[in-house]
Amino acid sequence: MKKHTIGSIRKRKGAQPLVMITAYDALFARLFQESADILLVGDSLNMSFGGNPDTLSATMDQMIYHTNAVCKGASDTFVITDMPFGTYTDGVTALANAIRVFRETPADAVKIEGGSDKAPLVRHLTSNGIAVCGHIGLLPQAVRAEGGYKVKGKSEEEALSLIEDAQAIEKAGAFILVIEGVKADVATRVAKSVAIPVIGIGAGNGVDGQVLVFSDMLGLYEPFVPKFVKQYMNGAQTVKEAVAEYAQEVQNRSFPDENYVY
Ligand code: KIV
Repeated sequence: MKKHTIGSIRKRKGAQPLVMITAYDALFARLFQESADILLVGDSLNMSFGGNPDTLSATMDQMIYHTNAVCKGASDTFVITDMPFGTYTDGVTALANAIRVFRETPADAVKIEGGSDKAPLVRHLTSNGIAVCGHIGLLPQAVRAEGGYKVKGKSEEEALSLIEDAQAIEKAGAFILVIEGVKADVATRVAKSVAIPVIGIGAGNGVDGQVLVFSDMLGLYEPFVPKFVKQYMNGAQTVKEAVAEYAQEVQNRSFPDENYVY
């Protein structure tokens, strides 16, 4: 697949849906590049790979390390890096951290969570040469402040507020927007209210593309499977069976046989 540009991503608005998937390392990024338009180095890595209960303790150093790995594995794929919790609290901090991503990795854009309240930050970044992906709706970095992961868009008031968020983030210069955990009909209205592609996760099928956390959609992450996740393989079972077979063969000395020795 030819590497996307901001322009070719924008052109997919209302056209062929964009395929986004998270990637955290070179190994999986290499496998995903054939099918994905965009790889997201999501701070969700702090949960599935870091073993933490939420994304909040992810750091800039970790995001930079994982972004470099992903870019090495899929050098011809458009890569977006999540700005972790606490790294965009004000314009100066946000720009310094986003510049780190651009200087220290080949990432194409950064993603920040938040609606209208974050529009001035998005403007500050975009006017300084940083391509920004917005993220509205359910905000994983707000999990402790909100006391859990809460689906959004359940009332007309929330729907209008999401539309306002999307339009503010677009006006601030973001080229794409992730919408998470939002009632499908409301997410469709949000997508129709802006001219940039809106990528859904747990937001139904009326948007301009989808993103899933790869360890969820491959069935590798067992602690919690959100309702919106379709598991395209039973990764956990497959891995466990393979490792159990290996363990058995080591114990009964059937591995290595003559095919696997020098
Ligand atoms: O961190 C992440 O993987 C994300 C997705 C849930 C969109 O932000």
